[in-house]
Amino acid sequence: MGARPDPLNKLQNKLQTEAALHAPAAPSPIASRFVRACLRLPTDRTPVWFLRQAGRYMPEYMAVRKHHSLLDICRTPDIAAEVTITAAERLGVDAAIIFADLLLPLTPMGLDFEFVADEGPRVHAPIRSAAQARALRTDRIDDLRYVARAIEKVAAHFSPPRSNGDRLGIIGFCGAPFTLASYMIEGGSSRNYIETKKMMYGDKKAWPILMEKLVAVLADYAAQQVEAGADVIQVFDSWVGALSPIDYRQYALAPTTDLIRRIRALGVPVIYFGVDTASLLPAMQETGADVLGLDWRTPLDRAWSTLDHAVAVQGNLDPITLFAPEEILHARVAEVLAQAAARPGHIFNLGHGIVPNTPVEAVLAVVRQIKSTAR
Ligand code: CP3
Repeated sequence: MGARPDPLNKLQNKLQTEAALHAPAAPSPIASRFVRACLRLPTDRTPVWFLRQAGRYMPEYMAVRKHHSLLDICRTPDIAAEVTITAAERLGVDAAIIFADLLLPLTPMGLDFEFVADEGPRVHAPIRSAAQARALRTDRIDDLRYVARAIEKVAAHFSPPRSNGDRLGIIGFCGAPFTLASYMIEGGSSRNYIETKKMMYGDKKAWPILMEKLVAVLADYAAQQVEAGADVIQVFDSWVGALSPIDYRQYALAPTTDLIRRIRALGVPVIYFGVDTASLLPAMQETGADVLGLDWRTPLDRAWSTLDHAVAVQGNLDPITLFAPEEILHARVAEVLAQAAARPGHIFNLGHGIVPNTPVEAVLAVVRQIKSTAR
């Protein structure tokens, strides 16, 4: 990897030199095995956390959800922090992802939406024209401060290192321009992204305006989260696998690179995550992300070698394996670890989020297995 002259790479180079000398003079400034793995530094064991670890599969979450809507939880820092902390502690994982939602920035941009039971998000007036894209606001990001407030609370809770000396990593997140645009244009979840691609291909004005506004908003939002104590930012491009490599390069790569560059300039590593991305990985690597999220459709070793092992990787167990008999689950987890081969820079995770009805016991069994596998 070429040495990029930014503060994060300087820190990374210094720590890699230090690790090579086997003799850190003082305790490492990065006491979190999760953050160390993001920077491809050696760790005592593989760090682990789960996409959507605070979700409907977990009885503790459902107990809170009984009294509050999803958006109420997101917008109330005390509750969002509590849900974040409870999930991380219940599972005993190495990182806590702040409880929030990808779509929260739509509100200060001027787009109303709601979560409809059994359907998902619904945007009331989807963006279909350059005029609508132009009318989107980028000056009200302060309205999202409730997420930073929640991160401050989580960071205060986890600031003392645990008894084993490790500090839990705190993950802030935002959507990537393509995936967020798809919700703004389709008005909700989509199968074929027809309206999104119609705008992308056909409206030479609207698409660039939308991308530019999203990057501005998301960079500010990520900065608030870093300032509040997020150690790492994950950029969710969940639906980017709908694009062919040529379309990814033509319509999504530049704005995503711009966003990731701006977040890394804040001094934190970036995890860039997408699903169904096997053919996009080399282009996704060009964004400069420190870590790429891998889905389960490509074996981890094959995906990592297509990236020349020049970035860290996160993944990649099929989330539905958590419904399999114990011995199958155990074998699949062992397989992911074997493919990572104890190389620095692997963070164990699922290839996508934990789904409702997943047995909590299966998730706990995976954590136990990771913790008992020495490097
Ligand atoms: O521990 C965690 O990861 C929880 C925090 C979190 C939520 N949303 C809370 C949530 C995170 C990281 C997200 C990100 C998010 N939101 C993504 C990207 C992640 C991914 O899965 O790829 C996306 C695409 C969204 C948009 C979104 N939010 C949809 C499409 C839905 C409905 C789908 C469904 O499962 O019902 C949501 C709702 C949502 N956001 C839930 C949670 C826990 C479940 C609904 C609920 O509690 O009512």
